[in-house]
Amino acid sequence: MNNFIYENSTKVCFGKGCVKEFLACKLKSYGNNVMLAYGGNSIKKNGIYDEIKKILDAEGKNVIDFSGIMPNPTYKKVMEGAKLTKENNVDIILAIGGGSVMDCCKAVSLAAVYDGDIWSDYWEKSGVIYFEPLPLGVVVTVAGTGSECNGGAVITNEEKKIKTGRDYPKCNPRFALMDPEYTMSVPKLQTASGGFDILSHIMETYFSLTDDDNVSDDISEALMKSVIRNLPVAIENPNDYTARSNLMWSATMAENRIIKLGKACDFQAHQIEHQLGAYTDCNHGCGLAVIHPTYYRHIYKDGICKFVKFATNVWNISTEGKNSDEVAFEGIQALEDFIKQIGLPMKLRELGMTDKSILPEIAESCNVSPGSYGKMSKESILEILNECY
Ligand code: NZQ
Ligand code: ZN
Repeated sequence: MNNFIYENSTKVCFGKGCVKEFLACKLKSYGNNVMLAYGGNSIKKNGIYDEIKKILDAEGKNVIDFSGIMPNPTYKKVMEGAKLTKENNVDIILAIGGGSVMDCCKAVSLAAVYDGDIWSDYWEKSGVIYFEPLPLGVVVTVAGTGSECNGGAVITNEEKKIKTGRDYPKCNPRFALMDPEYTMSVPKLQTASGGFDILSHIMETYFSLTDDDNVSDDISEALMKSVIRNLPVAIENPNDYTARSNLMWSATMAENRIIKLGKACDFQAHQIEHQLGAYTDCNHGCGLAVIHPTYYRHIYKDGICKFVKFATNVWNISTEGKNSDEVAFEGIQALEDFIKQIGLPMKLRELGMTDKSILPEIAESCNVSPGSYGKMSKESILEILNECY
């Protein structure tokens, strides 16, 4: 394994009823002004908003609503949130939602106390945070990004057409409340897309050096098998508590830095999806589903041992009478069949893209991952995008 330093400062309360049980107590260490941040209407429809508002009212908190955080949150929305925190002397941000709400709030927590331009100092390039961001707590309502237990925040700058993520440990939420029952109202397509995002995070980590025997890859294989078992169950029966809880914790495990320890990590498929998102505002997990199989067919020869391991250990593909290439290829085919089975798009056209002429610009604006098994370039990214169309 490569050398590493590990830290994760987020305290997690997980399970049925955890919000009712722990939220009031968690908020006691902070001041009275709570900014309640959320996305569209889902938390009003499923009753989560009312449940949380009741707890805050009972604690005598002064609640400032920050609503309308969109999927693929924009820098403009971040600045709107920062303005609200300053106008209302907010003491803590409580983010209720998925990756978009949590990420937006992490960026707000920095912008709320920083005098400069957070985009140019912390997203366009990576920076050093030498101050304490405004405290942030999160209540997770959809499994996928794992944003609840890391400092990562993916923000879209609409004017510059750049969607980019940075992971600053100081942006880790102070606490994360995770009740799997809160995710039961997530629609089938978002359940599938969030579930595929989990799988993608694990694969992007697994398919990278080191290839030596290592515990991070062993944990990754167990996590991938769990997602592959539980995701179809949650899609079929949204109220299955076991499936929902396994997915929720797999999402956290995939992105709480544990499986990345000692690994190079790739995230080339994410880099491509982020720029697709910047140009088309596509759904994150759906974009990843289109990109992954094609990307892997491009690079598998350079990481053949790991692709064979993936086919045999994760998909139970037999090696009998086959060479390594054939086994590796069958593993990628099994992944593609799974994407079809859970109802995600297979091509960019199914994502709603109607104009192929923007693909060169998207490819040109993508970062090339140094962690990829393949020797990637802007040209090979364009080739992949064309095949995905
Ligand atoms: O906006 P509302 O009405 O709440 O509806 C949301 C939204 O439309 C809905 N939803 C959430 N909880 C629900 C629910 N609907 C019904 N019942 C519930 N309980 O789900 C939709 C999608 O929400 P969103 O937060 O956008 O999804 P996700 O968690 O997939 O987050 C995607 C964003 O996170 C970034 C992505 O790029 C994208 O911007 N990522 C963040 C990462 C991180 N911080 O570590 C890593 C990821 O790789 C990813 O890039
Ligand atoms: Zn992702």
